[in-house]
Amino acid sequence: MRKPFVAGNWKMHKTASEAIALVDELQPKLADLTSVEIVFCVPFTALCPVANRLKASPIGLGAQNVHWENQGAFTGEISAAMILEFGQYVIIGHSERRTYFCETDETVNKRMQAALNAGLHVIVCVGETLEENEKSQTEEVITRQMRIAFNDIDLSLLKDVVIAYEPVWAIGTGLACDAQKANEIIKYTIRKPIIEMYGEEAVRDMRVLYGGSVKGSNAKEYFVQPDIDGALVGGAALKPEFIEIVRAAA
Ligand code: 13P
Repeated sequence: MRKPFVAGNWKMHKTASEAIALVDELQPKLADLTSVEIVFCVPFTALCPVANRLKASPIGLGAQNVHWENQGAFTGEISAAMILEFGQYVIIGHSERRTYFCETDETVNKRMQAALNAGLHVIVCVGETLEENEKSQTEEVITRQMRIAFNDIDLSLLKDVVIAYEPVWAIGTGLACDAQKANEIIKYTIRKPIIEMYGEEAVRDMRVLYGGSVKGSNAKEYFVQPDIDGALVGGAALKPEFIEIVRAAA
């Protein structure tokens, strides 16, 4: 049995003090939902104050990007060790980083290596754009993203990986991917490459999330799918609606 997993990707929202206020609003109502693994992925500047707030809580904390070098002259970058002092998770390869910040499959792989070797848990994102979807390239694109992301990642590190399928056209648009369709894509473009690279046993334990316009009202449709284990939530993670989504997973 894979434990359901719901992560909020706060993106570039909330100053440190606003983040504390949101955590204080959400945390008490999430406290008894312990059958779900819950993670807040907050801006770097909110990691320290939110970590203090979550000290006695089972809720996990994560960042939204990480550099692949351990340290050095990389102005503006943040290393895995810096994140690890506060949180356990990092999102890697989100489509907004691929689209706006020159993220490639190769840099996703480098970040995966660095984060996992340092001891972070990774939420790695894959997904096709609208154009790729319309050209029926979904399978080809995601299979490629998967194969390169996991290049040279040892089987022993897979226990620290969660994969998120986020169709780019569904993010922030209100046009969520049909749940059955998302399940199919996850089965054939995410779970299948994992089987090919690591074998049947690896895929049984691998948690795969759906992300893209998940709401309180549609979350359950995804969670009842056999190949979907939870959600990576954007907009709705900044509202009390997030509690509804976690409840649906529980
Ligand atoms: P929305 O839930 O706002 O569509 O964002 C999804 C997302 O990008 C999570 O990483």
